[in-house]
Amino acid sequence: MFITLEGPDGSGKSMQIPALAEFIRSQGYEVLTTREPGGTNIGDQIRQVIMKLGNTSMHPRTEILLFCAARAQIVEEVLRPALQRGVVVISDRYADSTLAYQGYGHGVDLEELTRLLKFTTGGLRPDLTLLLDVDAETGLRRRQTSGGEWNRLDAYALSFHKRVREGYHQLAAAEPERWRTIDASQAPEMVQSCIQDVVRQALAAHPQ
Ligand code: TMP
Repeated sequence: MFITLEGPDGSGKSMQIPALAEFIRSQGYEVLTTREPGGTNIGDQIRQVIMKLGNTSMHPRTEILLFCAARAQIVEEVLRPALQRGVVVISDRYADSTLAYQGYGHGVDLEELTRLLKFTTGGLRPDLTLLLDVDAETGLRRRQTSGGEWNRLDAYALSFHKRVREGYHQLAAAEPERWRTIDASQAPEMVQSCIQDVVRQALAAHPQ
């Protein structure tokens, strides 16, 4: 089963994943966690180019192709083989991030992006996508005060991050059977408990 976590910057996805992985293991499954961009040797090198604060002249199309290059690599090197072995894979971001950030955020044509994403992933789609939903102001405030990495994409204007969040809402509404939205402004333990409720149901519906 392939689970992805999506959400605006500062939604707390990365913080929630270790406990979610532990929960799924406790249910008797083998679990693999990955993140995008990155998650492979080649992908981690691409991540550095994408995130570098000094790369301010990067064109949106360049950015898209770099995200897709890292994704194509992780799909074939890591995700598909693990899924074929029956492992539950949890990915911190996947193709929906490109639709939300580059499509809704930068205004790149969604149909073109959808075609490119199909090529990139070879058609590999998540079984379940959790949207950790938080408003753009709260998310960015969390990023600035968390002491974690502050990257070139965090530095985009607030209006960009608002479009990203709105994009996520539209993506979730368009495919309600795959997406579950979780209020990520709650306390982290509450968010984890909501995530586990959703995943418990999904595992029961997708026996490996
Ligand atoms: P993160 O590792 O903190 O989630 O940061 C990844 C950043 O890259 C975040 O700002 C979202 C952005 N991103 C895109 O713009 N498009 C994509 O396809 C992916 C995977 C991430």
